Amino acid sequence: MAPFPAARPRRLRRTPAMRALVRETRLSADDLIWPLFVRDGEGVLEEVPSMPGVVRRSVDRIVEAVEGARALGIRAVCLFPYTDAALKTDGCEEAWNPDNLSNRATRAIKAACPDVLVMTDVALDPYNARGHDGIVRGGEVVNDESVEALVRQALAQAEAGADVLGPSDMMDGRVAAIRGALEAEGYQHVAIMSYAAKFASGFYGPFRDAVGAAGALTGDKKTYQIDPMNGDEAMRMISRDISEGADMVMVKPGMPYLDLCRRAKAEFNIPVFAYQVSGEYAMIRAAAQHGWIDGEKVMMEALGAFKRAGCDGVLTYFAPEAAGLLARGWE
Ligand code: PBG
Repeated sequence: MAPFPAARPRRLRRTPAMRALVRETRLSADDLIWPLFVRDGEGVLEEVPSMPGVVRRSVDRIVEAVEGARALGIRAVCLFPYTDAALKTDGCEEAWNPDNLSNRATRAIKAACPDVLVMTDVALDPYNARGHDGIVRGGEVVNDESVEALVRQALAQAEAGADVLGPSDMMDGRVAAIRGALEAEGYQHVAIMSYAAKFASGFYGPFRDAVGAAGALTGDKKTYQIDPMNGDEAMRMISRDISEGADMVMVKPGMPYLDLCRRAKAEFNIPVFAYQVSGEYAMIRAAAQHGWIDGEKVMMEALGAFKRAGCDGVLTYFAPEAAGLLARGWE
């Protein structure tokens, strides 16, 4: 840069048009994946108290919501079931029931909005009473038996029409096992977005309320999710998942891990997504509700930061709100 006064960087910040001309990063509705909570029943919209503005929806209401989001330009959604406690078993059999909530919602969305991508969650926490992502035997989350169950779950989701499978369980070897099964069973076209860099985070608290797993969780998830202090380990997990057949990878949570979004993009040159998780959402919402921050401004700033850090997109509960602002010309 030239020395002052030849360089006056404020020249490029003078007007909205000038700022738009030199803006480096842009957020668009195409960058957004909207996570949705599905519950049973009909015509049901149920508030999630720890996530103001987020609701659990019955399948018919999910379809309406996706149609509305589609009109705002959102073309990817991600499903999380709120499973009836009576359907939870130690063996997690409901996970591969072709007619479970998640699979019913997938079929309904694909029938109504075939051009919207449906992503599903491959993990067992909605299906066992202990709230763990794998099968628990003798107080331990067992790896290989869990992987077998996850493969069954993944195949049922592919059969229902899911476009993208999101293994969020963090068991070892699951991406290879799922990829192999998809290839063998005629689902070569189904993509895998691996939750590769998923941390044992406190930021998931409100989500566990939303899927009804909060009270259920016995212990913690530290034997399978990554220690929040470990960035190199996260890069190894991304490398492993890519070698096992992941098409895209995720860093989760998002904002406290932006350094790893940047590293993942630089080191692997593959589509990288961040999950702006429930706790991140709840913090912004709660502060905005108190009038302590400008909620819209902070939402757009946080989402833009993921793009600036190198992410190709973001899973965010703010998706429809952000897409609405973008459609109205937010900058
Ligand atoms: C579990 C799962 C979690 C989230 C997505 N999938 C929670 C967990 O690992 O306990 C968290 C999402 C969020 O907090 O928004 N398979």
